[in-house]
Amino acid sequence: MIRSELLEILACPQCDSPRLRYNEHNSAPTLTCETCGQVYGFENGMPLLYTDNAEWAPKRREAQGWVAMWKELGIYDLSQFIPELPYIDSEPWATVARMFDAALFQLSLRGDEHVLDLGAGEGWAAQWFAHKGCHAVAIDIVPDQQLGLGRAWKRMQHFNLAFDLVIGDNERLPFQPDSFDVVFASNALHHSDYLDKLLASVYKVLRPGGRLVAVGDPLITIFQQESDATDGDREKAHGIIERRRRFHEYLIPLWQAGFRNIHFEDAATFWLKNAELYPWMDQERYAIEQNRLFGSTLTTRLLTRTMLRLPRPLAMGLLLSLRQGSLLMISGQKRG
Ligand SMILES: C[S@@+](CC[C@H](N)C(=O)[O-])C[C@H]1O[C@@H](n2cnc3c(N)ncnc32)[C@H](O)[C@@H]1O
Ligand SMILES: [Zn+2]
Repeated sequence: MIRSELLEILACPQCDSPRLRYNEHNSAPTLTCETCGQVYGFENGMPLLYTDNAEWAPKRREAQGWVAMWKELGIYDLSQFIPELPYIDSEPWATVARMFDAALFQLSLRGDEHVLDLGAGEGWAAQWFAHKGCHAVAIDIVPDQQLGLGRAWKRMQHFNLAFDLVIGDNERLPFQPDSFDVVFASNALHHSDYLDKLLASVYKVLRPGGRLVAVGDPLITIFQQESDATDGDREKAHGIIERRRRFHEYLIPLWQAGFRNIHFEDAATFWLKNAELYPWMDQERYAIEQNRLFGSTLTTRLLTRTMLRLPRPLAMGLLLSLRQGSLLMISGQKRG
């Protein structure tokens, strides 16, 4: 079964046509593109809206990698299902919960929005949006029955809530233009090698004035090389794409994709008022002082003085370029 709300916004990932016909064969439903003829199957009740080609191959490897890693970590079994996510008292979820609260604050939803949960994992965010009254769609590459979106069925059952599940690629979203008011991403952007493609795809499916809010992506400073970061090594060994980007490597593709009204926030400073931000930043000079280029008290003092005189977005940009890897919230708006 596929809900009409979902069918109305789907598009063929191969040719972008909105003309997808649902065929309800008893055992094997399909979606057929009436324009290019491509046929898309279902797995565990979810439409597989991707073309199985060279572009998809790394995503297939990653999907298998998540399953293998979860098995290795002993959290694969459905008995490990935690309905309350992300609001539990242990890490990494406590941090994810703080970031999610910040995102919700930033979004201040009415409750009737169309929301896409990008790289949704087991769909706890889509569930939250659906609970609020939104039409929520979760997309991910993992169709496994016990993990990723497969686990979302259990979530819907537990909360007696409905949201839509799609297996597909964040970089080639199978939705019609202008379909969503909000695209939310938790810990998802850094699993993409092609952030430019991903952001262009998100931009397309957002309505004019719609917003992307992404939380939890890691950040390296302009002094670091991506290869220096070792915090994603276990994932990489399983074939999972793990990227570490600098501030401008997020900012430039956002701008190029067309986003405006772009905001970056540091996890530690989001809840601070402007007046509180600057004394805090003054303290940050000790962290910046560790870096060779700014390794003298004089340059660091000068830099901090400059930062304290800049408007908040510029100061934040400078701070995020220089500080040791902290988590971000990124948001941008499609031009109206
Ligand atoms: C770190 S998990 C985060 C899951 C969830 N958003 C959360 O915060 O719990 C990253 C997710 O992105 C998914 N993912 C990676 N690459 C993707 C792609 N190209 N398209 C869609 N999902 C992707 C992975 O399968 C994984 O579930
Ligand atoms: Zn097509």
